[in-house]
Amino acid sequence: MPSVAMWLPFYKICFKSQTACRGRFTAALLQMSWHKANANASRFGHSAQTCRALLYRRHGDPAQVVQLEDVDMPSIGPKDVLVKILAAPINPSDINMIQGTYAILPDLPAVGGNEGVAQVVEIGSRVKSLKIGDWVIPKDAGLGTWRTKAVLAEEDIIALPNDIPLLSAATLGVNPCTAFRMLSDFEDLKPGDTVIQNAANSGVGQAVIQIAAARSINTINVVRDRPEFTQLSDRLKAIGATHVIKEEMLRRPEIKQLFKSCPKPKLALNGVGGKSATELLRHLQVGGSMVTYGGMAKQPVTVPVSALIFKDVKVRGFWVTQWKRDHSNDESKFRAMLDELCSLIKQGKLTAPLCTEVGLQDYSQAVDAAMQPFTSAKQILIM
Ligand SMILES: NC(=O)c1ccc[n+]([C@@H]2O[C@H](COP(=O)([O-])OP(=O)(O)OC[C@H]3O[C@@H](n4cnc5c(N)ncnc54)[C@H](OP(=O)(O)O)[C@@H]3O)[C@@H](O)[C@H]2O)c1
Repeated sequence: MPSVAMWLPFYKICFKSQTACRGRFTAALLQMSWHKANANASRFGHSAQTCRALLYRRHGDPAQVVQLEDVDMPSIGPKDVLVKILAAPINPSDINMIQGTYAILPDLPAVGGNEGVAQVVEIGSRVKSLKIGDWVIPKDAGLGTWRTKAVLAEEDIIALPNDIPLLSAATLGVNPCTAFRMLSDFEDLKPGDTVIQNAANSGVGQAVIQIAAARSINTINVVRDRPEFTQLSDRLKAIGATHVIKEEMLRRPEIKQLFKSCPKPKLALNGVGGKSATELLRHLQVGGSMVTYGGMAKQPVTVPVSALIFKDVKVRGFWVTQWKRDHSNDESKFRAMLDELCSLIKQGKLTAPLCTEVGLQDYSQAVDAAMQPFTSAKQILIM
């Protein structure tokens, strides 16, 4: 069985613990009643609002537990909107949620998917910030985006301009926001500085390359070796990567050559863990930071004693969901970040990661593809 992604064994918070602060979203999940696509046709026909959704009733292998079903939806309250979901990616965290290994787990049954872009098609009588036709994305994780339509609380979504590419909008809320914050909040990076990162071909990695390039920051991009390394390297350089190297290179003396053309990194971004993270740390400047945001190798991060004593490196972590929750009372910082990212998109400086678009009905093929290594393409469900 292919394995995935981000493994967070040390803290697992049951989604119930969120119900107090995320009551409306949880209510939306609980209000659903559902029946299989082949269930009694007359019952389906009598339902006023239904949608198609990828549901799971228990945690486990996504290939076994996710099913496409018809779901009855609640009616629209005064502060709710009815949206048509347009496109939603399959991210590692979506897979981990279904497997039951992620830090937050919705109550079951749950609809899969944490991000995506939707269009408002109907609004409640007291909705103020949104109008019909607006594009919106979720503010928080756990919304259940793998469905054709949803009734959502106005306060759970945020508008995006609807003149950016659909795939950019569908993949904006998680990975580019993560890249943006990690490049902004940990080191005071100036033009000419260097950032080193592993998993450089990931969604996060591609956003890091582009946002850094827009700020004239060098990136050293580490990827696992593969037969088509040259094509991948060319593709990452075309979106702004300064250097693209194989993991093995991190341990070779030749890497010193690379630091003749750019300074040693102030910041290392780790989405992998294990040896890959340790090797990133070895190349940090004195006093630099390594920020861990993912654990694709499912191996702990080992910090060399010398890096702590002689370089005083800072070892940090980042979770965009926590950042969004920490800023949920004052939306201005989130809004400002989205505006800046959308401006980069409109200038052609930030493109969506390489994507494979898959119809919702072909979800099992998409879920399977999302769990394969060396694919370098994000699976996007098109509703
Ligand atoms: N902390 C946060 O706020 C936050 C936010 C967004 C994402 N994340 C996490 O960041 C990670 C990347 O997410 P994404 O959506 O950008 O991923 P993605 O686009 O699906 O790409 C997955 C990446 O992981 C690499 N990878 C897979 N298995 C690996 C292994 N065993 N060893 C080394 N590399 C491996 C892949 O490289 P190959 O091409 O070589 O397979 C690829 O670069 C995930 O762990 C995700 O949960 C965290």
